[in-house]
Formats: sequence, C-alpha cells, structure tokens
Amino acid sequence: MGYRHALVTGASSGIGRALALELAAGGASVVLVARREPLLSALAEDIERAGGRALVEVLDVSDADATARAIAAVDERVGGLDLVVACAGVGPALDEPSWSWRAIAAPLHVNLCGAAASLTGALPGMLERGRGHLVGVSSLASFGALPESAAYCTPKAGLSMLLACLRLDLEDKGIAVTAVHAGFVDTPMVAHRRSAMPQLLTAAEAARHIARALPARPARIDFPQPLAWAARLGARLPRPLHDALLRRLAR
Ligand SMILES: NC(=O)c1ccc[n+]([C@@H]2O[C@H](COP(=O)([O-])OP(=O)(O)OC[C@H]3O[C@@H](n4cnc5c(N)ncnc54)[C@H](OP(=O)(O)O)[C@@H]3O)[C@@H](O)[C@H]2O)c1
Repeated sequence: MGYRHALVTGASSGIGRALALELAAGGASVVLVARREPLLSALAEDIERAGGRALVEVLDVSDADATARAIAAVDERVGGLDLVVACAGVGPALDEPSWSWRAIAAPLHVNLCGAAASLTGALPGMLERGRGHLVGVSSLASFGALPESAAYCTPKAGLSMLLACLRLDLEDKGIAVTAVHAGFVDTPMVAHRRSAMPQLLTAAEAARHIARALPARPARIDFPQPLAWAARLGARLPRPLHDALLRRLAR
C-alpha cells in the first residue's frame, strides 16, 4: 500500500478498527486513536501478533484544540505521518429531537470539529516534507438533506466541504485529500436502526474497499454502488419532488 506511518481516529471500533487492520497488513505502522484505551491496546496486540506495528494514542477528538496539538506531536514523534484518516464519529442521539442543540452538539464537535482538528493537526509536518495524504470518513448522508437527520447530515456535509476545499489548496503541495462517502456499514453506530439499510456492508468489507482505493489518492471514494448513484441523483431532484419522496420513504 506504500504508507510508512498512518494514523486512524476512531480505531477502537467499526470502520476505523477494520481500516487500521488493513493498513497494518499493508505494511504501515499505525497510530490508533480513540477514547477507549483497552480496545485500542487489544487491537495493537492483534496487529503486533500478525507481524505489524501499532501505537496507541488515547484522545477525545471533541476537544479540537487538544486534538490538533496531539496529532502534531504524534507526527513529530513517529518521524512523519504519511496518512491521517479522520474516522472518529458519533451517530445521532436517539433520545433527543434531531433539531435540538443537545442532539446536534456532539456530532458537530466530534464528526466535524474533531475531524478538522485531526486532519489539520498533521498539516504543518506534511507541508514541511511536501508529501502526505489526508482522508476524512464522511457519508452518503452528506449529499442532501434527510428527514430527522440534521444532527448527522450537517457535520458530514461540512466535513465533505472541508475536504473538497483542502484538496484545492493542498494538491499542488504534494498532499492528497480524499473524502470517503460510505453507505450503510454494520457497526455499533447503526445497531439501533430499525429502518432498512440497503446494500449493508460489514466493517471489513468497507475497510477493504477504502484501503484498495487509497493508493490512487482519489478525490472521493463513494460506495457502495448503486446506492451512491441513487444518493447523488436524489440530491439533484427538483426540491418539491425530493422532499415528497423522502417524506414518503420516512413513513
Ligand atoms: N456505520 C455506517 O453505516 C457509516 C456510514 C457512513 C459513514 N460512517 C462514518 O464512519 C465513521 C466510523 O463509524 P462506525 O460506523 O465505524 O462507528 P463505531 O463503530 O461506533 O465507531 C466510532 C468510532 O469513533 C470513535 N469516537 C467517537 N467519539 C469519539 C471522540 N470524542 N474521540 C475520539 N474517538 C471517538 C469511537 O471510539 P471511542 O468510543 O473509543 O472513543 C469509535 O472508535 C464515523 O465517522 C461514521 O459517521 C458510518
């Protein structure tokens, strides 16, 4: 895969955990970031037993300033990160109306500010070296408005926009920026969902798809097809048709 030092936030569970395993199997030394230290240490042991290398960095990315400082320090400590994947995320609160600040605050702090701090924290070092790869795990849910999803769609749309802007600013400086727009993946985040999850992937399948696509340093990794096409098309429908369709699907 070609990465020497990678960092993955949200590595204690789900997609981030599976991606860390893929990157380690591809030869990268992986810095595992999340809050739950026992899960990170267990993953580091799994990676090392399989012949790979891993470091644990316990971090709450909702503290954005501390996160940017910590990632910059890791970059220096490991001698330069080639890849930073901002995967840490939280789903919408289940016990709050989706329009309430109590529902919106945590996803904004973690999924948007935490991701922005994780990615930009690595940038001073990458810019100095003139190479690197920044990856943000966004969602097909960032493509357009969805009912009862303000808390989840808003930070994901912000993250996708951040990545698109960073790409414009950084690609001529040797730094690639990739936005991952994933569909439904079977992880603890979606365990509570009762509505249909078409084309549901396992975390391992999703991670394999992302890891295989990364070396080409693409602007976007949108999957699975045809769900990604449907999401793209849905977002471009005339507004009254779009809204009526979504309300019908939500019933
Ligand atoms: N599952 C899906 O269908 C789906 C679809 C599209 C996109 N995504 C995105 O994929 C990413 C991973 O989600 P997942 O489905 O794999 O969920 P998950 O299994 O619940 O994993 C979430 C990860 O984020 C970490 N995290 C949460 N809050 C954090 C914080 N404040 N500081 C540091 N780490 C934090 C968690 O670690 P700790 O709790 O140990 O801190 C955990 O490792 C998310 O950004 C999610 O939005 C998921």
